[in-house]
Amino acid sequence: MAVESSNLDKYGKVILDDIYNERDPRAYFSTLNHLEYRIPQAAKPIFEEVFAAYRLLRGGGELKIADIGCSYGVNAALLKHHFDMKDLYHRYAGGGSEAIERAGMIRRDRRDFSGGGDPSLEFVGVDQAAKAVAYADETDILDHGIVADLESEVLDAESALALSGSDLVISTGCVGYVGERTFRQIFHATGAGRPWFANFVLRMFSFAPLERLFADKGYVTEKAGGRLFRQRRYASPAERTEVMARLRERGVAARGEEASDWLCAEFFLSRPAADAARLPLAKILSEG
Ligand SMILES: C[S@@+](CC[C@H](N)C(=O)[O-])C[C@H]1O[C@@H](n2cnc3c(N)ncnc32)[C@H](O)[C@@H]1O
Repeated sequence: MAVESSNLDKYGKVILDDIYNERDPRAYFSTLNHLEYRIPQAAKPIFEEVFAAYRLLRGGGELKIADIGCSYGVNAALLKHHFDMKDLYHRYAGGGSEAIERAGMIRRDRRDFSGGGDPSLEFVGVDQAAKAVAYADETDILDHGIVADLESEVLDAESALALSGSDLVISTGCVGYVGERTFRQIFHATGAGRPWFANFVLRMFSFAPLERLFADKGYVTEKAGGRLFRQRRYASPAERTEVMARLRERGVAARGEEASDWLCAEFFLSRPAADAARLPLAKILSEG
């Protein structure tokens, strides 16, 4: 599906709603392939280092992970099922995938995902896109899917129960669409276990409101130094112009390729102060 690249949202970012809620992941991956969307791949080694650090500090091997804005279970596919973005692009946007019926695609995915993957990782995904979550649930890419728009809805008791006991809450490409309302509710559902929050956030969005929310709960937020992570290419010169304006408004100086080609994200880790003091983020991440 081609991107209507002149169609920008209130932040100046191209509107991709059409591909977020299809009955299968083909439109998502074929459109994002054109934009070279890659933040889940860039995030994968960072999340893996964070999971290892969590296990080191908290003990235990099994991790329950809540993925906010999980879409078709992209982060679960990468982290639990050991796929890479190039595998997913090939699977859903190449190699004759257009000729497969949805039912056949589900059968193939169930065969490859069901019962497989890292049994020590349990993935609970949250997304407003009901069809995407249903796909990830049906194929067992996710262990549990929750359909909710927590910017406008209240998390129901059953979903809150499914999220409780989460060790980590992660996201890629979602903060900006969601903010304080969502994370306040996620914190309420998961907070008793003092989970870690690991978010990749586009530089055009401020993390400050979420940092304040977490600080109120006794959390410390650290950012991965000066590191920028490529999210995707600009969809059009118009989008680049708008994003540049937004960065200027925020007092953020565009860096290198960010000014020319790539929307870039930063990584934020929010943890209870005692955990952050015992093992600072700089000691968790290898040089990148
Ligand atoms: C750019 S996609 C990122 C998906 C996935 N995390 C990835 O990196 O491939 C953004 C996702 O946020 C979801 N989203 C947007 N607004 C949302 C909201 N208010 N509540 C929950 N999910 C939302 C969309 O449905 C979409 O799946």
